[in-house]
Amino acid sequence: MNVLDPPVRIVAPTASQFAAIECLIVGAFSKSIADSYDDEGQTTFLAHVDAKVMAARVASGHLARVGLLGGRPVGYVEARPDGHLALLFVDVGFQTRGLGRQLFEAVRIAGGWHWMTVDAAPVSAHIYAALGFKATGPEVISQGITTVPMLWAPVETPAA
Ligand SMILES: CC(C)(COP(=O)(O)OP(=O)(O)OC[C@H]1O[C@@H](n2cnc3c(N)ncnc32)[C@H](O)[C@@H]1OP(=O)(O)O)[C@@H](O)C(=O)NCCC(=O)NCCS
Repeated sequence: MNVLDPPVRIVAPTASQFAAIECLIVGAFSKSIADSYDDEGQTTFLAHVDAKVMAARVASGHLARVGLLGGRPVGYVEARPDGHLALLFVDVGFQTRGLGRQLFEAVRIAGGWHWMTVDAAPVSAHIYAALGFKATGPEVISQGITTVPMLWAPVETPAA
């Protein structure tokens, strides 16, 4: 893992950062996921990551963290109050250097959740598996989006 240097600062997002957060998500979505969605799925997803819509969800109780590099958002994570991961995205120029894992851990610890769920895009399921999630059922299609339900729970270490 190529750790980011200088390190990314992970904080709660402010309202003025959501436009830049939308940009980084749309860039990462376009590169990695969009081709696997049909037109309806892409429209549904883009509405879900509209800056005003994200800000409204966070204002109404979703927990979010943004990764900042010199004040620039380079990663974003958002979870529902019940511990369901709604979004996890890292800017295409900063992926595979540990930031996704840091964001996931930051929101999990901030939320105090001992388990978390996600509806993963099938093309991203292997990354969630690397983060410790396990599939809990078959693929589901809703509003043009195919997802795999997955669960994260702490690894139980056998008593010595
Ligand atoms: C998914 C995403 C948030 C992960 O962020 P990241 O900073 O690249 O991830 P990390 O570097 O922290 O890696 C986390 C784990 O996933 C693995 N991983 C990350 N990208 C991977 C890839 N492309 N292929 C295989 N494994 C990958 C890493 O090896 C790491 O596991 P390890 O610590 O056991 O080595 C980021 O790649 C992204 O935004 N992707 C596009 C959007 C997406 O798929 N979002 C999630 C679904 S909505």
